[in-house]
Amino acid sequence: MRKKLIAGNWKMNSLKSEAKALAEAVFSKAKTDMPFDMLVCPPMNVLGFVAELPHDGVFIGAQDVAETQKASGAFTGDISAQMVKDLGADWTLVGHSERRQYHGETNAIVKQKAENAINAGLTVVICIGETLNEREAGKAVEVVRNQTRECVSALANAENCVIAYEPVWAIGTGKVPTTADVAEIHAAVRDELAKVLGSEIADKMRILYGGSVKPENAKELLNVENVDGALIGGASLKADSFWAIAEAVK
Ligand code: PGA
Repeated sequence: MRKKLIAGNWKMNSLKSEAKALAEAVFSKAKTDMPFDMLVCPPMNVLGFVAELPHDGVFIGAQDVAETQKASGAFTGDISAQMVKDLGADWTLVGHSERRQYHGETNAIVKQKAENAINAGLTVVICIGETLNEREAGKAVEVVRNQTRECVSALANAENCVIAYEPVWAIGTGKVPTTADVAEIHAAVRDELAKVLGSEIADKMRILYGGSVKPENAKELLNVENVDGALIGGASLKADSFWAIAEAVK
């Protein structure tokens, strides 16, 4: 049984006072023995601050780590995986479509970042997903298979790596794929994971769905076969909606 993971991606939101209010509201409801895992990924300005608040039952993650394999050095503006770990986080996202789109991150870069995270002792959430053009051209399955093959490192296992399927056209748009489309993609990702890592690891690895997950559609999406949780952007910025999604886990 794969334990579901409910993950919040705060993106570039929250000054310190806002982060405190949101984090405390999220953490106050959490317990150590919940039927799902919970993760919040604040932006770097408040990551250390949030990680220092009492957060029993909730994992803390970054949204990105540096590409260089070095833990420190002349890389202006970068934050290494070791630095993220030192801030008190145990997880990180990599390869979010906004990183790919606005920072030109390729699959090779995403793979390197994922390896850096794993080598630093972080659990990594590797984000993949097709664009609207790719879906309309009938290439969604091919694109996510390629991304899975090219981004997942041989270092990955079910404990240190999670995949998040986020169709780019569903992020922040209120549009969601049909449950049949989600099922098709998640099955393809698991099949590709089996080719890269073997079926034993692939069967245990969690594959999240992300893109306009809301309290209203959470139950339906979380019940799709091979959907092992959700990566939530907008709805994770309010403790009530984030928790309403978590509570949709059976
Ligand atoms: P959204 O974002 O829930 O606001 O669509 C999801 C994501 O980008 O992780």
